[in-house]
Amino acid sequence: MSKLNGKVAIVTGAARGIGAEIAKKLASDGADVAVVDLKAEWCEETVKAIEEKGVKAIALGVNVAVSAEVDACVKEVIEKLGRVDIMVNNAGITKDGLLMRMSDEDWDQVIDVNLKGTFLFTRAVSRPMMKNKSADGNPSGGAIINIASVVGIMGNAGQANYTASKGGVIALTKTTSKELGSRAIRCNAVAPGFIQSKMTDVLPEDVKKAYMDTIPLKRFGTASDIAECVAFLSSDSASYITGQIISVNGGMIG
Ligand code: NAI
Repeated sequence: MSKLNGKVAIVTGAARGIGAEIAKKLASDGADVAVVDLKAEWCEETVKAIEEKGVKAIALGVNVAVSAEVDACVKEVIEKLGRVDIMVNNAGITKDGLLMRMSDEDWDQVIDVNLKGTFLFTRAVSRPMMKNKSADGNPSGGAIINIASVVGIMGNAGQANYTASKGGVIALTKTTSKELGSRAIRCNAVAPGFIQSKMTDVLPEDVKKAYMDTIPLKRFGTASDIAECVAFLSSDSASYITGQIISVNGGMIG
């Protein structure tokens, strides 16, 4: 039996990139998946890939920063897929610039999507997850996995808004684990390092080389490296792990 058989996952920002890879990996491990992104039609490719694995998938267009949309999304997932066991808060944006020139809008947008979005989905799934525990003596309420970043730990020039949002996600992860632990809901974060993606492909070669010099494993990470860690944290194999920030960064920082 696959590790996540019978479980239902919501993955945000799952139309492409790391989120799409996470959604497909959870499906490979047996979970039904709600694929969430700004527009439902952007999710079609991910949904198709998941359905080919023989599990269910639905596409939902949701702005993670809008409370009413998030609440409606969780309601619809429960109506269509029956429950929610795994919540992956992956949707994220950057709007980089030096802080002395950063606009209020660029600050607010990044905090709203990356940090408030994570809070809104965590709040929305907490009640249904609490009910999982009481049903049929099920020992697991649920697992929440937040995607942070190495720069949320280290800081990074030119990313005041992004690093603050990811630092906030790390603190929120720890608080969630403390508030919901007694209801058997675990909450952990994965902090990726430099991951090969559309975001990082465009960086100049000298910047990439400077990063590579700091990575003991001498390669950039892949979306799959992140998805493997998320799948483990989602599963009952991680049933005694909560409140942790797992760095997946090739050894970039300890
Ligand atoms: P990406 O830009 O390829 O994908 C992000 C997805 O989130 C997109 O499909 C986008 O439409 C969606 N999204 C953006 N705003 C949204 C909103 N308001 N509501 C719903 N969906 C929204 O990014 P990538 O590289 O896949 O990153 C995924 C996560 O990993 C992000 O949280 C990012 O901060 C984090 N991360 C990425 C790293 C990298 O090197 N690529 C390194 C460290 C962390």
